[in-house]
Amino acid sequence: MKREGFNSKAGAIAAAAGSAVGLGNIWRFPYVTGENGGAAFLLLYIFFMILIALPVLMAEFSIGRMTGKPVTDAFKTLSPKGYWYGIGLSGVICAFVIMSFYNVVAGWTMYYIYLSITGTLQGLNPDEVSQTFTNTMSDPILSIYWMIIMLSITGYVVARGVSKGIERYSKILMPILLILIILVCIRSLTLDTENKGITFLLSPDFSKITMKSVLEALGQAFFSLSLGMGTMTTYGSYISKTQNLPKSAVSVAMIDFFIAFLAGLMIFPCAFACGVNPGSGPGLVFETLPNIFNQMPMGYIVSVVFFLLLSVAAVTSSISMLEVLVDFLLSKFNIKRPRATAIAVTLTILLGIGCASYSPMLDFFDNLSANVLLPLGGFFIILFVPLRVGAEKMREEMEAHGGKFKLFPAFYFLAKWVAPWAILFIFISKMLTWIGIDLFA
Ligand code: PHE
Repeated sequence: MKREGFNSKAGAIAAAAGSAVGLGNIWRFPYVTGENGGAAFLLLYIFFMILIALPVLMAEFSIGRMTGKPVTDAFKTLSPKGYWYGIGLSGVICAFVIMSFYNVVAGWTMYYIYLSITGTLQGLNPDEVSQTFTNTMSDPILSIYWMIIMLSITGYVVARGVSKGIERYSKILMPILLILIILVCIRSLTLDTENKGITFLLSPDFSKITMKSVLEALGQAFFSLSLGMGTMTTYGSYISKTQNLPKSAVSVAMIDFFIAFLAGLMIFPCAFACGVNPGSGPGLVFETLPNIFNQMPMGYIVSVVFFLLLSVAAVTSSISMLEVLVDFLLSKFNIKRPRATAIAVTLTILLGIGCASYSPMLDFFDNLSANVLLPLGGFFIILFVPLRVGAEKMREEMEAHGGKFKLFPAFYFLAKWVAPWAILFIFISKMLTWIGIDLFA
């Protein structure tokens, strides 16, 4: 059977950026940056994006397109012997774990559309805004209800197939989200008359860096770019041979970073202006944004549209995870796409009920996936490049569009000598902290 593909270059980039840009940028990036002290963490994050995440993204795209197969088969095709196909399998498990908590948070963003429409958030003071989030989070029925709605929408798009669903939705909605974020940013910056938010985000205090923040910066880079679990490998398999892969990877990484950075500019100034602690954890976005909307012209409509588009951004990311599961089921069992989607969604809902009812499980899955599973997946994927693909084949794929990839030697050097060992080093160092040794403290 011929696999579907993306119809255009812009569509492929929009879809991959749609996967990358999501709650990871707008919900996770600000709260993790806030917990880890701000600017110094941001610098670490940029460092890891360039030296580790970008090469992994290029590797995933190339491996996907080279084989034209879903993630488990892609690794098996390139390396029939050995356990490398385990990368794909672990990706499938990882997709399942992330989807389960991701859709609970996505469900909250949807619920906030409802709260915005009904005007419930209007006129609340910052304490009441925080209380509203606490109530939301601690109501399992509510969280489960919205999670199921979110997953049903994701399932609907995925069931319709790649180019008809994913591509069309991503291309239209992402630019609108960007415009809105910029507007909200401007209002947030003008609220913060003492510029504390900007200082927090831009003026680094390296004494705040610990081993925990190093691992979390790496984890955030993987999470935000959807790396380490085969999402981008699967998307790579849909990209046409005429497209410049390295350039596409750089575009996706830049878009992803830019939106996370803007999210920081949006959240921190307001957090300081409204007395919300930037290190307050996963509720940060929900405790901050409504305060900006309450103090901006046309705040009512902006808040409705903003939460709507944030939900859409979450759906486009969620789609890319579900796609990994569905593609896997389709390749293993003789079933049709709608049925495979229904099975994957049902299983995710079951696991999601756990995350919605018991918030430590949500935090644990969030931590486990970003800080352990994805970097570990990334380690094996990037190691796969020198060990199983080789420079020649890799270069051929990266130049298949007919152009030259001048930075190939740099890419290959990073893939062979830097990225895997840096990940390993960070892991081992993190383990050392368990016996009381913190290399950065
Ligand atoms: N990158 C997505 C986001 O930032 C989350 C994601 C992680 C999607 C892993 C797919 C795979 O929201």
